[in-house]
Amino acid sequence: MTQTVLITGATSGFGAACARSFAEQGANLILVGRRADRLHALHKQLSGQAAVHVIVLDVRDRRAVTEALASLPAPFSSVDLLINNAGLALGLEPAHRASLDEWETMIDTNVKGLTYCTRALLPGMVARNRGHIVNLGSVAGNYPYPGGNVYGATKAFVRQFSHNLRADLLGTRIRVTNIEPGLADTEFSVVRFKGDAERATEVYRGTEPLTADDIAEIICWVVALPPHVNVNSLEVMPTCQSWAPFAIHREEEAAHPSTNPVTE
Ligand SMILES: NC(=O)c1ccc[n+]([C@@H]2O[C@H](COP(=O)([O-])OP(=O)(O)OC[C@H]3O[C@@H](n4cnc5c(N)ncnc54)[C@H](OP(=O)(O)O)[C@@H]3O)[C@@H](O)[C@H]2O)c1
Repeated sequence: MTQTVLITGATSGFGAACARSFAEQGANLILVGRRADRLHALHKQLSGQAAVHVIVLDVRDRRAVTEALASLPAPFSSVDLLINNAGLALGLEPAHRASLDEWETMIDTNVKGLTYCTRALLPGMVARNRGHIVNLGSVAGNYPYPGGNVYGATKAFVRQFSHNLRADLLGTRIRVTNIEPGLADTEFSVVRFKGDAERATEVYRGTEPLTADDIAEIICWVVALPPHVNVNSLEVMPTCQSWAPFAIHREEEAAHPSTNPVTE
């Protein structure tokens, strides 16, 4: 049976890689994003392998999401797999200097947009007793880091929302998975630093980060597992990434930075 897959944020990074992978499997693809030119290029590129329907849509627009997902044309109307991937981080300022507008954009996209898409498609999945929701969380939802303030909080929401969905869906055959990547080289950092490509490149300097294809491969594996197997959360980092030690502020450090043994 042909799978119908809806991917939000399909114009770049993980979403575009997932679109390519599921096209190879011959899925019916619904690709969502704001950049129409990229969606149409993907449509052209993948149409030989799969049936593709593109929707130019801002997931923050509740009414537009509800209307678009309620009127999906055949053969795209019964979504089996929702990949809630659209999301972003903005800025790395400490909370007292961060932009409230940027905080709001992250909440509207990563939290509210994700709930709009989920709420629009879930009743159909429940009625068919079939479906899988894959959410893109982040290690930032599991561990705090300086400047991660609202971005990390939105991803903690995604993790808890994913697990609470599982609680509500107990007794159905619908699966929910939260994918929690670490450092991955996509357009993520260019977006975070508002187009500053040099600063974005610096994030990955000297590392071998995850790629978008790595994440697509993981999502394909999670989805291909037998229907009785639900991966709740899957945290993944590149081998070059690990956890920082606990940060400790030392009064004398402010005066003599080089004497702090924790940072040397
Ligand atoms: N890269 C990482 O290190 C990393 C690590 C952990 C988790 N993640 C998460 O993984 C997801 C994908 O990120 P990525 O790394 O692939 O970044 P990316 O290359 O910047 O892709 C982000 C995608 O989200 C879409 N998007 C953003 N705002 C949107 C909106 N309002 N409406 C619709 N689509 C929107 C963008 O499309 P348009 O601009 O065309 O709308 C784009 O396709 C995000 O949720 C991110 O938080 C990334």
